[in-house]
Amino acid sequence: MLPANIKIMWRLFHRRRTLDITLLTRKAHYSRLVLGIETSCDDTGVAVLDETGAILGESLYSQKEVHLRTGGIIPTVAQQLHRESIEVVVNEALVRSGVAPSQLSAVATTVKPGLALSLGIGLEFSKKFVREHNKPFIPIHHMEAHALTIRMLQSVPFPFLVLLVSGGHSILAVARGVDDFLLLGYTLDEAPGDALDKVARRLSLTKHPNCSTLSGGQAIELLARSGDRRKFPFRTPMGRIYDCCFSFAGLRSQITNSIMKKEAEEGIEQGMLLSCVNDIAAATQHTVAVHLAKRTHRAILFCKDNGLLSSEDPILVLSGGVASNQYIRNTLTVLTEKTGLRLLCPPPRFCTDNGVMIAWNGVERLREGKGILSPNEDVCYEPKAPLGVDISAKFTSCDITSAELNQILSSIGDRSKKMENSPKKQNNRKDQPGQACPEGSDQQVNTDQTELISCGMNHVEGGWPKDVDPQNVEHISRFRKRKERDESYINSAIQLCSITENSIKQNEAIEISEKIFEDVENVTESHQPPFTKIMTVFRDPMQLQRAVRALSWSTSESMKVAAAFSSNKFPLSSEMCKDSYVWDVEKSHSPLMVLKPSSPLLSLEYNPNDSTCLVGGCYNGRIVYWDTRESSRPVEAISTSTDGQVLWWDIRKMNEPTDRLLLDLGGDRSCPVGAISLGLNNIMNTKIVVGTQQGLVISCDKNGKTPAEKIIGIYKTNKGPVYAVQKNPFFPRNFLTAGDGSVSVWSDSIKKSPIMTFRNGIQYLTGACWSPFRPSVFFTLSLDGILDIWDILFKQTSPTLSVKVCDSVLCSVSIPNAGPLMTCGSTNGEVMLLKVWPGLLTPRNNESSLVTALIENGEKQQSPGSQIEEPSEEDEEDEEEDPRELIAEAERDFYRMTEEERSAP
Ligand code: KG4
Ligand code: ZN
Repeated sequence: MLPANIKIMWRLFHRRRTLDITLLTRKAHYSRLVLGIETSCDDTGVAVLDETGAILGESLYSQKEVHLRTGGIIPTVAQQLHRESIEVVVNEALVRSGVAPSQLSAVATTVKPGLALSLGIGLEFSKKFVREHNKPFIPIHHMEAHALTIRMLQSVPFPFLVLLVSGGHSILAVARGVDDFLLLGYTLDEAPGDALDKVARRLSLTKHPNCSTLSGGQAIELLARSGDRRKFPFRTPMGRIYDCCFSFAGLRSQITNSIMKKEAEEGIEQGMLLSCVNDIAAATQHTVAVHLAKRTHRAILFCKDNGLLSSEDPILVLSGGVASNQYIRNTLTVLTEKTGLRLLCPPPRFCTDNGVMIAWNGVERLREGKGILSPNEDVCYEPKAPLGVDISAKFTSCDITSAELNQILSSIGDRSKKMENSPKKQNNRKDQPGQACPEGSDQQVNTDQTELISCGMNHVEGGWPKDVDPQNVEHISRFRKRKERDESYINSAIQLCSITENSIKQNEAIEISEKIFEDVENVTESHQPPFTKIMTVFRDPMQLQRAVRALSWSTSESMKVAAAFSSNKFPLSSEMCKDSYVWDVEKSHSPLMVLKPSSPLLSLEYNPNDSTCLVGGCYNGRIVYWDTRESSRPVEAISTSTDGQVLWWDIRKMNEPTDRLLLDLGGDRSCPVGAISLGLNNIMNTKIVVGTQQGLVISCDKNGKTPAEKIIGIYKTNKGPVYAVQKNPFFPRNFLTAGDGSVSVWSDSIKKSPIMTFRNGIQYLTGACWSPFRPSVFFTLSLDGILDIWDILFKQTSPTLSVKVCDSVLCSVSIPNAGPLMTCGSTNGEVMLLKVWPGLLTPRNNESSLVTALIENGEKQQSPGSQIEEPSEEDEEDEEEDPRELIAEAERDFYRMTEEERSAP
C-alpha cells in the first residue's frame, strides 16, 4: 500500500507544476512531525515542527502583561491562565500547520523544571491528548530545549559550551549530546532574569512611559541605552569564589540599597520614578553582564584545559530569555573573540520561552530514539531538575584568576557599549536580529540635537554705541526706532524667527504627542469589550462544607481580602470550625492570617480608613474586632441582626454599644423585624439603611433622640428578604435593594415604589453592590452562581455581562478601591478573585450628569403628580404610610409566597 501512495504524490508533483502551497506542505509531512507544548512558567507556547526544523504552525500566548500588573508571577494565576488558554493555543498551532493530530509522530511537552502548577497543566493536557490520539510522548527538560534551539537554526555539532540565562536559571554546561550534558555551574540563589525583573519592579519601571509593557529585563536594556553605568559602581558578585557558579541576590540588594539612598536624596517614595533610572539600569545590566562573562571565561579555560570542546571550532552558545539582551551578547562576543571561540545565539524570539524549542527538542530525541514513551506510560512533572551530570565541584580547587582574565574583563564594558551603538556592526551580524524592545517607540518625539560650543567673547565690539546713553530712556527709544528700520537688522530678526518658530513647533509637537497618547490610553482601556476572568480561587483551608458569608478588601497598598466563613447548616453547633481568613492576593496558596472568633463569622468588614482594623459579626451575636496595631483613635462600627437590633459601637469600648435601636415598628404582635443587610450613607454620616427579612428597608438616623425619631423612613421593597441594601457611593440619596428576582434603585424621598427596577430573567438574587468607581454600574449575585454586571446607562433590560463564576450559590461580593479586581464568595467555601475589564474603573464622559438625569426622570415618573402613570388606589394614600400597615402587608405577602412555594409541584 505505502509505495503506491508515494507514487501518487510524486506523479502529482511532476504533472502539475503549479502545485499550490498545501500540496507542498503535505510533502513535508513525509518527514516526521512533532507537536511541542511549553507551559513551564508564564508562556503557553505550542508549535508543530517537521524533522528538518521547519515550523509548520506556531502559537504563543504570553501572560507577561498580567504578571507585570500583579507585580510578579503568581503561580495560581499563571496556572489559571495556562488552563484557560492551553486548548486554544494547541488548536491554533495545529490549524496553522494544517496538520491533523493523527498525522503527528509524537507530542513533546516540558515536564521539568518550572513552576509546579504551570507544568501540571501542560502535562495533564498532553497526557490526555496522547492517549486520545494514541501518540508517543516525549517529556522535555526546559533547559535542554533552550540549549538545543540553536541546532534547529544552523548546523552546530556537539560538543559545545552553553550559557543559559533566563528567569529561573543561570547555567554553564558542556553539551555533548542530545541528552548528555556536563554541568559546570548554576546559580546559587536567584536567576539573572529574576534579578532584573525584581530590580525593574523596585524601580517601578512599568510606570515609565516607554516600559509599561516590557518585561523587567527588556525595560532595563532599553533604559540602559541612555544611562551612564559609571554613576553606580556595583561590585561584581563572587569575586573571591573561583568556580563557575553564579549569584545575583547580593547584587540585587546592593542595587536596592542604592535605590533607597537615591529615593531619600530625591525626597520621593518607593513607587515613584527616580530621575536616575537610566543610570541604575545601565549599571545593573553592566554588572550582570560582567558577572556572566567572568564565570563563562573560567568555564572556557576549564574546557580548553580538559579538551572538552572541539579544537578546530570551539563554540559558545548563549540562550534563554536574558540572552536576548544585546549588551550581554556584546560582552560575551568580546570574551569569545579574545579566547578564540565562536559565539552563537538564537534570535530573541527563540531565546525567550516558546513552543518551537520544545518541539525541536522532541525532534532531536525522536531522531535518536531517546526518551520516547508510549501514550499510557506514567510521567510526573519535576519542578526542580538539574541539567546533566554535575561537575561544578571540580572548580573549587582550580584557581584561574589570571592577569589575562582581568585585563580582558576591564575592557569589556566600554567595548560592548561601543558595539551596541554601532548600527553597522549590528546589522552585519547574522546572529543578532533586532531586540524585542520598541525602537523609536510611539511615545518618543525626537527633537533636533543641540550642539553646545563653549567660547569666549571680546567685549571691544557690541554694547551700546558711544552716542547712546543706556540710562537715558529717550536715547534708547530713538536708537531702537532707527535700528528697526535698518535692513540688516530686519534680515537677522527674520532669520531668528524661523529658528524660534521651529523650536516652538517642536515643543508643541511634544505636548501634542503627550496629549494624544494620554487619550489613546484611556480610549483603548474603556473601549475594550467587557470581560471578566477568574484569576485565582482561594479555598477554605479547612475543606469543610462552609459558605463565604462576607468579603472585604483592605484599602492598604498590599492587596488583602478578608473572608468570613461559616457552615451552611443552621443552627450551627458549637464544635464547628470557627476560623475565618485573610488572604494576600499575591499569595493565594495559604492565608495570610487566620481569624479565630468565639463563634463563626457571618459578616466581616475592614475599616475603610484603616486597614489594620477588621470588625466581624458572629453567629452567637457577638461583635468582634481585630486590630493589628495599638490604636487609640475612636472608630465607630454599626451592627444589625435578625433580632431587629441596630447597635452603634466604639471599638475601644466593646463591652457596651454607644447607642441602640430596636426595629420594633409596632403592629398587632409588636414583634421586631429581623434585619439582614445594612448600608451606610457614607462613613462620615449618621444615616443608615437596614434591609429586613420581611422585605422592608428601614432608613435610620443615629442622631434621632427617641426610637421613633431614629426611624426616618420605611420602604416596602421586596416580598422576600432584602439580601442587600446599599447607598450609591456617588448619589447617597439613592440606594439599591436586591431580593426576590430583581434589583431596584430607590430614592430617599419616594417610599412607595422604586424609581428603577432591573430583572434578569427569573434568576433568584442573593446579593448586589454598587461599583465604587462608576455611578451607573452595579453587580448582582444569583442562586445559580452567576455574576451579572449592569451598566444602567448602557442597557436596562439585561446585564452588560453575565458570567458563570461557580456551580454553587454566590453569596458574597467585595470590590477593592483600586485595580480591576473583585471577589465573589460561594456557599461552597470558594473565594473567586476576578479580573474585570479596565473600562469598569473609569467613568464615561458625563457619566454623573447622565445618571442624575436618569434618576430625576425615574423620580418624576414615580412622584405623586406624575402624568405618566395613573395613580392607583394605593398611591392616593398619604405618602407617610402607617408602619403597622406596612408590616402587616409584608407579613401577608410573606405567608402568601411561602404558601405558593409549598403548594408548587
Ligand atoms: O527564558 P524565559 O522566557 O523564561 C524562563 O524560562 O524563565 O526568560 C524570561 C526572562 C525574564 O526574566 C525577562 O526579564 C528576561 O528573560 N529577559 C531579558 C530580556 N528579555 C527578556 N533580560 C534582559 N534583557 C532582555 N532584553
Ligand atoms: Zn525558559
